[in-house]
Amino acid sequence: MRRSKSSKWNNLLSKKDLINKIKEDVLSEIKPSEEDIILVRRIAEDVKERILEKAKDLNLNISVILVGSAARNTWILNGKRRDIDLFILFPTTVDEKFIEEKGIDLIERAMEGWVLEQRYAEHPYVRASIDKEVDGEKMRFDIDIVPCFDVKDPSHIISAVDRTPHHNIYVMKRINGKEGEVILLKKFLELLGIYGSDNKTKGFSGYLCELLIIKYGSFEDLLLDAADWRPPLYIDLEGIGCYDKKDPLVFIDPVDPNRNVAAALSYNNLCIFIDASREFLKNPSKSYFKMREIVVKTYEELKNFFINRETYILAINLRLPDFAEDIIYPQLERSKDGIKRGFEDNAFKILNSYIYYTRNEAIIIFEFEVWKLPKITKHFGPNVFDKDAADRFKEINKDYKIFIKDCRYVVERERKFSSPKDFLEKNILKCALGKDIRHIIEDKEYHLLGIEELLSKNYIRQFLSEIY
Ligand code: CTP
Ligand code: MG
Repeated sequence: MRRSKSSKWNNLLSKKDLINKIKEDVLSEIKPSEEDIILVRRIAEDVKERILEKAKDLNLNISVILVGSAARNTWILNGKRRDIDLFILFPTTVDEKFIEEKGIDLIERAMEGWVLEQRYAEHPYVRASIDKEVDGEKMRFDIDIVPCFDVKDPSHIISAVDRTPHHNIYVMKRINGKEGEVILLKKFLELLGIYGSDNKTKGFSGYLCELLIIKYGSFEDLLLDAADWRPPLYIDLEGIGCYDKKDPLVFIDPVDPNRNVAAALSYNNLCIFIDASREFLKNPSKSYFKMREIVVKTYEELKNFFINRETYILAINLRLPDFAEDIIYPQLERSKDGIKRGFEDNAFKILNSYIYYTRNEAIIIFEFEVWKLPKITKHFGPNVFDKDAADRFKEINKDYKIFIKDCRYVVERERKFSSPKDFLEKNILKCALGKDIRHIIEDKEYHLLGIEELLSKNYIRQFLSEIY
């Protein structure tokens, strides 16, 4: 039987004061101040006015709303950068092509003088950036301006972003007074490396954090429940869900019964959260909200580290053309898994594998548990009773001594690949690879790195120091 919430808390009563103190201290550092909120609102209002004015000139019938964490005061202070999400709502009487062309054109005209970058989610949108002087210091504002359809019923959307204005209404009505809880949760997840629903992070989105706080009421009440979670989990705040995919956590979108808000969350990341919830409650500490200081190990330190592990490192360095991360990262993962399978089908054994990724470069790193193999291996042929196949096998293997073992023909032959490097040089294109990664490899836009070359890169030393 599940323990009731109060009995769970009884065990932790002595820690409640400590947890409250930690929350208060942490929030004083990461929660936006009144001035911050006013400033962000002012910038958002200014951009909104520009867009509305330009729309009037262009005779476009639109409205503009502030959405996301800036609208709900649930964003985490992030140095001298502020992110704002603004949506432009078009009537459903126009089509997608109209929105894409006129929407982007409107933004470009309205935001003259700002740094603009066209981006793609499912549809194009624009990030408009500007640096402003705030209290004598430069502050950067990045405003994502997204055209969408003004749909009345968010379970009948035209494009995926059409739900967002409805999320905004839902959360705004319920989050008042709980903003700090959301901010704590976001920071907690961020430091675990599982905040964000992009294809690389596969973690919790901002909206999911807000919904979890709406469901549980506070950061610690969520953790208290999560400490006992056993996936698969199903949460449906409004009791409306009709979603039958088997995700590890299903959180029915309160504005769309067909959508799981937690669809991007990976099993492993859910486990990281469950474990961290337990550990925090066992031993509450501010350290869960503070960036761990990473001392970057030197070339020698890392080299010795791998020498002492007695493992072997081989990496593939790929040059990437300009791809959106959400497109290329899953392909890198697929390629890493495909190559790993290729290695393992040839008796090499992988201990760990990693992907280092930046916009124009990726390095897939393999650490081997088994990389040196005898020159020969057993090669099994057909069953003795299969007469035709037996003849073929004997013809192909006429230079070898043929044995019969367990009713099958068998020869002891040289291995196809003498080392992992030899395997990659001869066989990488036979592995299951992401489509664009395959093209990059076909075009020879890659090279192999041994441990020395790999560790000579300072960003790789940083990357590996964060892991080990
Ligand atoms: N959104 C969503 N699902 C996602 C990503 C975004 O539904 N996987 C919608 C949500 O309505 C969200 C809005 O898009 O509020 C803005 O997205 P984003 O800026 O990524 O998140 P925020 O909620 O603003 O959180 P953050 O503080 O990280 O910006
Ligand atoms: Mg946002």
